[in-house]
Amino acid sequence: MFGFLKRKQKSLIGMDIGSNVVKCLRLDLTEDRPVVTHFAMADLPPEAIVDGEVMDRELVIEAIQEAATKAGIPDEPVASAVSGRAVIVKKIVMDKMSEADAREAIYWEAEQHVPFDIDDITLDFQILQEDIGADQMELLLVAAKKDMILGHAELIRDAGFQPLVIDVASFSNQNTWEFLAANNNVMAAVVEEETSAVDPEDSVDELDLFDDSDQDESLEATSEQSGEFVALLDVGGGVTNVHIVRDGVPYFTRDLPVGVAHFIEEFQKQLGLTYDTAHGVARGHLEDVDQQLVTDIVRSVGSEIYQGLEPSLSYLKTSGEADGIDRIVLSGGGAHLPGLLEYLSESYNVPSEKADPLAGLDYDPDLFGDGEAEELSPLLTVSVGLALREAVGK
Ligand SMILES: Nc1ncnc2c1ncn2[C@@H]1O[C@H](COP(=O)(O)OP(=O)(O)OP(=O)(O)O)[C@@H](O)[C@H]1O
Ligand SMILES: [Mg+2]
Repeated sequence: MFGFLKRKQKSLIGMDIGSNVVKCLRLDLTEDRPVVTHFAMADLPPEAIVDGEVMDRELVIEAIQEAATKAGIPDEPVASAVSGRAVIVKKIVMDKMSEADAREAIYWEAEQHVPFDIDDITLDFQILQEDIGADQMELLLVAAKKDMILGHAELIRDAGFQPLVIDVASFSNQNTWEFLAANNNVMAAVVEEETSAVDPEDSVDELDLFDDSDQDESLEATSEQSGEFVALLDVGGGVTNVHIVRDGVPYFTRDLPVGVAHFIEEFQKQLGLTYDTAHGVARGHLEDVDQQLVTDIVRSVGSEIYQGLEPSLSYLKTSGEADGIDRIVLSGGGAHLPGLLEYLSESYNVPSEKADPLAGLDYDPDLFGDGEAEELSPLLTVSVGLALREAVGK
């Protein structure tokens, strides 16, 4: 949906530069089912990226190079993503007008909604409802700080790669969800290939952040119109990104200040564990610990996610859009926290699942190490969504 990919790629490298783990994944997009051809990850020390902002460029560049070298990633275009406070996603109402006119007017509108100087941001939007009465329409506005986008692209370049797309991480996550939903649905519409004109000179600095291809077309093509409100919860290293979507339309996106690190801290404190053991517990290794206590801690820290979600849900309720969410999809390293999925599922009384992007792809299991594909899959929603950028948006 967003991105500035103008050419049709036969393959794409997704680089998810998470605050704890950098993931590099290359997809061959020429087959019916995309094929993972390369994959590797590298850890980042916690001080390297804080709240989506790069604090130590050298550390991040090293981690990108480490992952890329381990994976044997070829010198090909890269899709990557930004996240955090410098990205704002907001629903706004404005006078009804054509999309082309809205593209002009949006800068004036955005001034009221974005706490940054309008000259410093890159904007895109999606019309959510063309007519909400009183000659008004509803849009989803996405704004990102230009220097952050350019800085991110520069980081990829300095690591020796060519950045082609800089996306927003929560939208990459959504991209994966849509891809999986469309591929599980045998009735899904057949996607017509669109071959767009290519300007080989296209570079990140000259292009708009967001692609303006016809959104409705790509939605029809890729999502089952289930009408379900799905809460995509990405429990990452330091934050949980909440991204609520229905039929390909994002309704809400928000970061909650709870991540795997907070659970690990509580395991250490309350169970007297070393960092390494606590880290293992977070990944579901419960051999040497009291499982009941672990589950209690997960529920207690997890309640911050539950409570943090409440404002998003009240917003959906008061705006008359939904009674609540219909499904939870848990991704990120936190998807493995023992009992978290069950706790959220019970709390909201809705079905919940762990995201499994590898289920929609072909791959040689050896790429992920012995039996690790299943364990790693929920951590790969953003990198897969990035590498699929072209396949989903076509
Ligand atoms: N199989 C795994 N491999 C590595 N880390 C794991 C695994 N399972 C759980 N984890 C935990 O998840 C954390 C990383 O999660 P994730 O990759 O989603 O974070 P991130 O993308 O780096 O962070 P953020 O999205 O907040 O920027 C690790 O710090 C670790 O504690
Ligand atoms: Mg992440």
